[in-house]
Amino acid sequence: MSSALALGLGSQGHEFFLYNPTLSKAQSLKGQLKKAQLWQGQDFEAVVLGFKPQKLTEAMSDLSAIVTPQTLIISLLAGVKLEKLQTLFHSRVLRLMPNLAIAENKGVCLWSSLLEAQENRFWQTTLNSLGFAPQVEERELDLYTLHAGCSPAYLYFLIQEMKDLAQQSGGDPALAAKILTLSLQGALDKLKGDEDFQGLITQVASKGGVTEATLKHWNESGAIASGLKAGLERIQQLS
Ligand SMILES: NC(=O)c1ccc[n+]([C@@H]2O[C@H](COP(=O)([O-])OP(=O)(O)OC[C@H]3O[C@@H](n4cnc5c(N)ncnc54)[C@H](OP(=O)(O)O)[C@@H]3O)[C@@H](O)[C@H]2O)c1
Repeated sequence: MSSALALGLGSQGHEFFLYNPTLSKAQSLKGQLKKAQLWQGQDFEAVVLGFKPQKLTEAMSDLSAIVTPQTLIISLLAGVKLEKLQTLFHSRVLRLMPNLAIAENKGVCLWSSLLEAQENRFWQTTLNSLGFAPQVEERELDLYTLHAGCSPAYLYFLIQEMKDLAQQSGGDPALAAKILTLSLQGALDKLKGDEDFQGLITQVASKGGVTEATLKHWNESGAIASGLKAGLERIQQLS
């Protein structure tokens, strides 16, 4: 995700110093950015935290030696609160909740900060280049982690399940994946997000039909609702 952020912001002239425990990953990203070097102790203004939230304590031991109160901490860590980051680093902090499409400047990047208004205005302009980038309250950042960060994987999961179903039923999984991808692109292409989604479902799911049978099963089993709830609970555990 930190690579996606660097690629998305790369066209704005920022200079990146790259560090990753697996050197080849940093080298590969360097090759994709115009102004980038491997980090070898150079001074920097901001540091992007792009490791897993569970690694925060481990990473702190390295970071505490190089972060100063002037360093801006930009955190991608799901669930980890601004206040916790501020207490740990004694620095200014900004939290982002993006998705991978920011690499192509077509993503969503929710953000929340403890910065002054002037700095927030700078970050609003900067993050707008990634796609849709509303500043939200921190509790909303956590709530919409499922909508912004996780939702692409939810969609890919559905595609994978339907691809597997095609294979198990004697179909061609590659053709199934193509049919699904194009069908979903067609279905999503003109949406703006303010549509009557229940109405759209009714247009497809005719009474007593095939679609209705699947949706009825999902509703009655409660599997989708409880799976989403498990995601929300995980965010609370990570904070
Ligand atoms: N994936 C998403 O769609 C998504 C969406 C929103 C937010 N996020 C957030 O973004 C963060 C990264 O997620 P990800 O999916 O990109 O994870 P990832 O693919 O596992 O990448 C994590 C990276 O952190 C590196 N790393 C491990 N320990 C480190 C350390 N001590 N210092 C510096 N780098 C270290 C890892 O290097 P090695 O490979 O060498 O171990 C790896 O390259 C997470 O906090 C997650 O909550 C992700």
